[in-house]
Amino acid sequence: THTARIRGMGYYAPEKVLTNADLEKLVETSDEWITTRTGIKERHIAAPGETVSDMAAQAAKAALADAGLEADELTHIFLYTVTPDFYTPSAACLMQEKLGIRGKVAQDVNAACCGYIYGLEMARAVIALRPESKVLVAAAEVLTSRTNWADRRTCVLFGDAAAACVVTADEPPLGKAAVVDALLSSDGSLGHLLTIKGGGSGHPYKLGDVIDEDFFLQMNGPEVFKHAVRSMAGVGRDLMAANGLTRDDIDLFIPHQANLRIMEAVAKKLEFGPEKIMSTVARFGNTSASTIGIALVEARKAGRIPVGGKVLLGAFGGGFTWGAALLQF
Ligand code: ACO
Repeated sequence: THTARIRGMGYYAPEKVLTNADLEKLVETSDEWITTRTGIKERHIAAPGETVSDMAAQAAKAALADAGLEADELTHIFLYTVTPDFYTPSAACLMQEKLGIRGKVAQDVNAACCGYIYGLEMARAVIALRPESKVLVAAAEVLTSRTNWADRRTCVLFGDAAAACVVTADEPPLGKAAVVDALLSSDGSLGHLLTIKGGGSGHPYKLGDVIDEDFFLQMNGPEVFKHAVRSMAGVGRDLMAANGLTRDDIDLFIPHQANLRIMEAVAKKLEFGPEKIMSTVARFGNTSASTIGIALVEARKAGRIPVGGKVLLGAFGGGFTWGAALLQF
């Protein structure tokens, strides 16, 4: 069988930055509360009219440049998002158009915050079936389009961004990662703890309806916190065991960047010291599916991934979904 490799990766964050001080002017909160509870200092916010497909196309261009490939060489475009531009056409189709190409497999997929890891596993499956494939995995989110700015329990947490990578079966240049293994899971019985309902077929709006809280992201924070820690630690442990690895074999752990306290709790359960945790949450907040892709690029840029190093990714999100992936650089 062919090894799937991340041949190039990149991300895009919108220009506008919203700081904790800016949020103090919007809701009853403080930089101190947000920092101590979440580790977040600032987040990027999409410009008016800037969409998921716009941002995903930017991230894709960065990943293609990193891979040394032209957009037209892609065979598949998988765009992971819970905030697509529209129900239809898909953001993946619109993104393809923005890359100036056509004729590819293009689809939106919703795996919430686990999008990047789910995408790596789907790309791996495609490569196994058709080794000549060049699969673009994109994860993009304009969560601020579904943020209730009157709800201080959620509005301080999220930001907008996109990440992408190109997965191929080619022999890599140094520094490009093999996707060694992944373990994915989900549980719909807990889905009600983190929702964006409004406008779906389970919660349709009629002409003339006033938009209410159900249109926006709603979350039971403490419950999500608990499950996130338990699930991410469990799946990380299982994936290491399945590959005959212990914590000492892992050079860097990149958990979903939702909240620094969740990351630290997971790392503690897995017994990773602070030197093995990658965190970008202070600068980007929780950008859902794209956080891991951003953290990967930043980790490489910061020299935190040694040649030949093993990186463990872990994610948890709405659905609930969770998973882990193992990369070998
Ligand atoms: N500023 C000031 N006070 C606040 C704010 C705020 N922004 N938000 C809540 N509070 C208050 C609450 O009203 C509450 O006050 P009360 O006791 O008088 O009622 C108090 O702070 C404590 O609220 P809790 O919700 O219990 O605070 P907690 O310590 O649990 O922290 C948080 C809240 C940060 C949301 C935490 O529960 C959390 O991180 N949960 C996980 C959320 C998450 O990361 N979700 C995403 C994962 S999945 C995905 O990425 C989609």
